[in-house]
Order: sequence, then structure tokens, then C-alpha cells
Amino acid sequence: MGDYVLDVNGTVVHVTAPADEPLLSVLRDRLNLTGTKYGCGEGQCGACTVLLNGVAMRSCRTPVSAAATAKIVTIEGLERHGVLSPVQQAFLDEEALQCGYCTSGMIMSATSLLSKTPNPTDEQIVGAMNGNVCRCGTYPRIVEAVRRAAHAAEKGAQ
Ligand code: FES
Ligand code: FES
Repeated sequence: MGDYVLDVNGTVVHVTAPADEPLLSVLRDRLNLTGTKYGCGEGQCGACTVLLNGVAMRSCRTPVSAAATAKIVTIEGLERHGVLSPVQQAFLDEEALQCGYCTSGMIMSATSLLSKTPNPTDEQIVGAMNGNVCRCGTYPRIVEAVRRAAHAAEKGAQ
């Protein structure tokens, strides 16, 4: 067991956990941040995606000890003062979900993409989202939502 100080969604939290405990378990089971989902547990589906220092990472494959020095952002941390992030809003507007199980991971991957590539091509969108699996097959609407979020951010910057 080790004691870790984590920066989660801008809040410093203290957790005691085995060094190799997945960040996903820490978030869900110790911090009650259940928006991040457990899918495969093997780094293959993207349901557990969170941001570490702005980069999309699979929290099921990230030990808590490796996350202790990073700024961690989960789906719960994207909204500000009751206003959804542009990516969250675009997913709603495009109805880019069916069961919703993959959605938080999709939104985190899209957020990471747009932070580095604000105006991505369709190829870049598909490339960045490729590791996120949607069993409901909502891929066309997901791509449309990412396009919409990029346009919204572009308009907002003008
Ligand atoms: S649960 Fe982490 S990639 Fe599937
Ligand atoms: S909306 Fe059901 S898995 Fe993607």
C-alpha cells in the first residue's frame, strides 16, 4: 500500500492504495467518480479514457502510482459552473450515443484531440477515436459531434 496525492479535476485528493491499483478503480471505487467506465480492463475499448496532463489515457492500464504527478481530468471535470464543455454539448446535440456506455471515453478522446488539433480532418478524427469502441455503432454521429465541437470552438474564438 502507498499514500498518493492526486490532482483530480482540479481538486487535490489523498488516497491509500496498492501502487499497481488501476487509476480506473481508484476513480470509481475510492473517489466515487463513476462517469469513467470499466469496459474490457485490458486497454482495448477506451471506455475508461481520462486525461492525464491533457492526453487521453486508458485508466484501466494506468497504475495509480504513475498518475500521482499528473493533472487528471475525468468526464466529471469537463463541465464548468453548470455549462457543458463544447464536446459534451456537441455529443448531446448530435445525439451521438445510444446506450451511452462508451460516451465518456469518446468525449475524453475527442477533448484530447481538439486540444491539440482544433480543426481536425475527418481522417484525423477517425484516427484519434479509433481505439474507442462503440458496441452500438454510433460512429457516424460521433464523428459528426467531433466536427460540430470543432466548429463551435472555432466560432467561439472568432
Ligand atoms: S476498460 Fe480500459 S480500455 Fe477498456
Ligand atoms: S453508445 Fe452504446 S456502446 Fe457506444
